[in-house]
Amino acid sequence: MATHLILLAAGQGTRMQSDLPKVLHEVAGLPLFAHALKSAGSLAPERRIIVLGHGSDVVAAAVTAHDPDAKIVLQAEQRGTGHAVAQAREALAGAGGDTLVLYGDTPFITSDTLTRMTARRDNGAELVVLGFNATDPGRYGRLVTEGQKLVRIVEFKDATPSERAIELCNSGVLLARTDLLFDLVGRLRADNAAGEFYLTDIVEMADRAGIRTEVVRCDESETLGVNSRADLARAEAAFQDRARAGFLASGVTLKAPETIHFSYDTMIGRDAVVEPYVVFGPGVVVGSGAQIRSFSHLENANVGHGSIVGPFARIRPGTEIGKGASIGNFVEIKNAEIGPEAKVNHLSYIGDASVGDRANVGAGTITCNFDGLLKHRTRIGSDAFIGSDTMLVAPVSVGNRAMTASGSVITMNVPDGALGIARSRQENKSGFAQRFFAKLRGQRAKRKE
Ligand code: UD1
Ligand code: CA
Repeated sequence: MATHLILLAAGQGTRMQSDLPKVLHEVAGLPLFAHALKSAGSLAPERRIIVLGHGSDVVAAAVTAHDPDAKIVLQAEQRGTGHAVAQAREALAGAGGDTLVLYGDTPFITSDTLTRMTARRDNGAELVVLGFNATDPGRYGRLVTEGQKLVRIVEFKDATPSERAIELCNSGVLLARTDLLFDLVGRLRADNAAGEFYLTDIVEMADRAGIRTEVVRCDESETLGVNSRADLARAEAAFQDRARAGFLASGVTLKAPETIHFSYDTMIGRDAVVEPYVVFGPGVVVGSGAQIRSFSHLENANVGHGSIVGPFARIRPGTEIGKGASIGNFVEIKNAEIGPEAKVNHLSYIGDASVGDRANVGAGTITCNFDGLLKHRTRIGSDAFIGSDTMLVAPVSVGNRAMTASGSVITMNVPDGALGIARSRQENKSGFAQRFFAKLRGQRAKRKE
């Protein structure tokens, strides 16, 4: 049976104090809405409806870029969560099956939790609500239960003191038979303290009609919602803690886990070692046994098995580092393939280039890839030796087993096995230094008189 998704994201997010809509703020390099879509992904929802507020064209564009088949519907005026769900009615017409409701600002609901919710549906519950025991129940809606049965949800504003004492809170996530959901939502009224159409009111309506409604409980950490920058920082910290624990459990050595920063999609092989203060931007894959040394920053790059990167390396998008290669300190690499066992050990910029197997790129080498208008490629062959301080003015190539003399500005291709030397010839002037300093000393003595 098909499952569908409604993601609520029409709220303004004013407490973020931001020009950027709330759900575009990122945790571990991925926008909040995309985390929520990712959570729902474990149920493979067939139709995905995202409810956005007025003026959220940027959010719509980001959602479409992320999930081209997601359907965006507009809730021009925010009249409550029930009203928001009602906006998806047309998009889900005739869809049948079940519908999951998630919030765009709640990034951490796990697939395990969602699976436990669908299991209740399979067991005959028609409406399943996700609850949690809040350490500080604050302003959350409270779940009123009778044994297994969920009887109603009461919003904090409308709750009596004894209802406020309930610790079981509403996460906002629910799963229901699609037809039932829209039937109930269509009958909501805004007769409450906030004057809003509360989605939560469907629970009491269902219970009164004898429809089986149940609660699934999850850990509070999953329900963490982002309303402020402080929440965003907490969400980031929670994500990082889990990522660190995950890598440690899978056989990666993290020398000082709390100083290492991961992205939502970082992949690291077994027996890799990551030293303190390393930042993984999005799209990084590190092979097994590789060493990422301190203060390196990597994004959109593959690091081969057993290679060494850093300390202080900057690995930019489009970098492919082969097996057993070594990339040393103050080396920047962008859009380049570094062959197996090649070495770029000190103070270099390698951009739009390929470096052959076992090639050695000397200190201070620069690929001059940009002519002010266009980017050009540099090709360095296998077993080539690039002398220190070589400027490779692209487009240019250095052949297999070829070399360049240090300090050369290479503007012509160097054939296989050849030496490219492009610098002025040295001349020695005998006794010059001695005479020169004697003259300077004489001038200084005169000034003091
Ligand atoms: C809601 C629940 C509450 C629960 C809490 C969990 C209701 C009535 N209350 O309260 O029981 O404990 O979430 O965080 O459902 N949204 C729209 N359109 C609207 C209103 C909201 O899209 O008109 C979206 C928001 O962008 C947000 C989500 O729905 O992603 C929740 O809205 P919010 O106003 O934060 O709900 P709460 O009052 O916190
Ligand atoms: Ca909220």
